[in-house]
Amino acid sequence: MTINMVADHARWPIANDPIFEISGRAKKAIAEHGKENVIDATLGALYDDNGNLICMKSVYTTLKELPNDKIAAYAPLAGTPDFLKAVETACFGDCKPDAHIRAVATPGGTGGVKHAICNYTNTEDAVLVADWYWSPYSTISEEIGRTVETFTLFNEEGNFNVASFKEHFEALMKKQKRVLTILNTPAHNPTGYSVSDDEWDQILDILKNAAKDKDNRVILLVDTAYIDFAGQGQERRKFFKKFSNLPENLFVMVAYSMSKGYTMYGMRSGAAIGISSNEDLAIEFQFSCMHSGRANWSNGTRGAMEVMSAIYADPHKLETYLKEVEENKQMLQERAKIFVDEAQKIGLKTLPYRDGFFITIEHPEPKKLMEELTKYNLYLVSLKKGIRFAICAVSAEKCRKSPALIKKAIDDLK
Ligand SMILES: Cc1ncc(COP(=O)(O)O)c(C=O)c1O
Repeated sequence: MTINMVADHARWPIANDPIFEISGRAKKAIAEHGKENVIDATLGALYDDNGNLICMKSVYTTLKELPNDKIAAYAPLAGTPDFLKAVETACFGDCKPDAHIRAVATPGGTGGVKHAICNYTNTEDAVLVADWYWSPYSTISEEIGRTVETFTLFNEEGNFNVASFKEHFEALMKKQKRVLTILNTPAHNPTGYSVSDDEWDQILDILKNAAKDKDNRVILLVDTAYIDFAGQGQERRKFFKKFSNLPENLFVMVAYSMSKGYTMYGMRSGAAIGISSNEDLAIEFQFSCMHSGRANWSNGTRGAMEVMSAIYADPHKLETYLKEVEENKQMLQERAKIFVDEAQKIGLKTLPYRDGFFITIEHPEPKKLMEELTKYNLYLVSLKKGIRFAICAVSAEKCRKSPALIKKAIDDLK
């Protein structure tokens, strides 16, 4: 390129998204060799054992029953009032914190992440994330002149590395006096880790300690994109209760997504939820997110909001929907168990998995390993420090076969 027409801040590498690129190669391989001969573990979406995208019946029946005007109309900037009520129940379940809470509709969980980074950091601030992280955290940060700094997610025992978190959080707080930390839990992408309740207590102790200095601004975003597929019953929502009665300079946000839990990836809906012991700060959150919404995408997707409102307004619909989520969750948990058991049996080490769509294997040369696996028609995603296998997209039978292929490819590369 001889000249640039885009402004300086808008110059990014001319490169396609690596996940969609490898996914495209998997699709080509399926067309060439047949879907029974290819393992496509690239995309973070739920597929059934026959390789078809799961589209929850309870969700799409509700959508198709909506009158056209409820899909076509603009939604209010904050979201429709019924949706905002429903999304709090959907997110917190029985574990709503005792606090002032405000929600704002967003296009997917990504919108909530954008709101947090945009509205709770200053230009040139670093956002604290785990060393295994969803890459849009840095894309969004860099887009608006922020950076990400990482702490080490796992300790030697394969648990949350509280010491590393503390060290990085406190150093950054000393430097910036304002720190936004993003924790993607439960069912972390890419590892499948879920922070335990005891680890949550230790994390909150660190944050509360920093909040003793009233000049500090302590901000936590919990990215719960996969929460609807985590644990049994309400167990993976219990931590929300811990956000009750926090110091006022410790502000918590949740990025809630309808993409996975409602299989509505393309309908772009979710919410940013702000939690504070101080009502003024919850209102401040709501209005700055509405301002940002207006500046970025205007309002959210009306049809998706109406689907959630209709499901939560009708006990029968809700029961049918929850049953469907449960069935899908069990399918996912079964696949995970098969993969993890098989990996253990043959001595393939995975990162600690608890819940969710992905299992990750650490490797010093992830791109090479990913390429090696394509020779066996196994397609997955290479990350900075390992490879990510999407159990959400692969049948139980293929989940059983894959660890041995991965182990063989790793051994062949030695
Ligand atoms: C970690 C994480 N956070 C947030 C999201 C939000 O996705 P969406 O904007 O589609 O709701 C995703 C989706 O892949 C994700 O993996």
